[in-house]
Amino acid sequence: MTLMTAPVDLLRARLGDTVKENVPLAPYTSARIGGPADIFITADTAAELIRVVSLLWKLGLPFTILGGGSNVLVSDKGVRGVVVMNRAKGVKFHAGDQPSVTAESGVVFSNLANRCASRGLTDLEWAATVPGTVGGAVYGNAGAFGGDMAGNLISAELLTGKGRERFSVEQMGYGYRTSVLKRGEIKGIILSAELGLHNSTKDDVTVKIQQFSAHRKATQPPGASMGSMFKNPPGDYAGRLIDASGLKGTRIGNAEVSPMHGNFFINHGNTRAADIRALIEKVQKTVKEKQGVDLELEIEFIGDWNV
Ligand code: EPU
Repeated sequence: MTLMTAPVDLLRARLGDTVKENVPLAPYTSARIGGPADIFITADTAAELIRVVSLLWKLGLPFTILGGGSNVLVSDKGVRGVVVMNRAKGVKFHAGDQPSVTAESGVVFSNLANRCASRGLTDLEWAATVPGTVGGAVYGNAGAFGGDMAGNLISAELLTGKGRERFSVEQMGYGYRTSVLKRGEIKGIILSAELGLHNSTKDDVTVKIQQFSAHRKATQPPGASMGSMFKNPPGDYAGRLIDASGLKGTRIGNAEVSPMHGNFFINHGNTRAADIRALIEKVQKTVKEKQGVDLELEIEFIGDWNV
């Protein structure tokens, strides 16, 4: 292999046919928006994830990990370099007086919550309606209905420059929708997480999940979106502020501020990432003018945003 070998050929030689080129990312996001990844690699297990990421670090190739694609806006031009699709889905329950579950980072979080329910294990009910993967939830400290990842996590296993490392919940440096990883204080990827649970009954846990689902259905819109667009500012709610600024139903192209909940931006079909971004800026500007509050994004922009 010479230095002139294209990255994709280098990767194919080591990883085989799982390495694809020019793959549209919209279908891999909850908003159904975004251009192609130059190179797209699927990892089906944590071991594969380690192999792929170690190789990318060694080759010095930039990469982005995609889990459920629920908290990201991928640019129209897509992602230069490599996107690693995390499909590591191993789950192991630990029974006893203090039960817990270890889940690989590509596990769909809502599925995990429902699996806990069917075993009569409580504490993850809040997550049964949260989109995205365990990895995304560990990264962003996902939360709903008074619960959040910081409240459940015992420890996370990361791959860092030093190898596999176990981070306690304290070491994750959690704040509201943030962590050491999201703030870029640590370079690493999430392999798995051990979450603390308690013993309960299948019926009790299921009833709680049904209540949360009903509440979500009544207050949050269906359709393609990124979930909550902005973080709630201290002492207030982004949705309330956007509503009070008269912005619900505002549209740019096919992107709309949901008439049902102001903090959700809906893709009505073939919406460009640029339109969502323009809508974000319009909402931030208007809320600042009318309410004097700076809204901070909860979602992250990924990909090539150069114009
Ligand atoms: N409100 C309005 N108008 C609106 C929307 C909301 O006045 O258009 C008011 C509501 O009446 C309520 C308050 O704002 O008094 C808060 O709204 P809501 O109860 O819907 O909760 P939220 O703060 O908007 C948060 C999380 C959601 C999570 C729900 C349920 C954030 C940014 N969002 O929403 O998480 O599902 O609580 O617990 O923290 C996500 O992070 O992607 C997400 C969906």
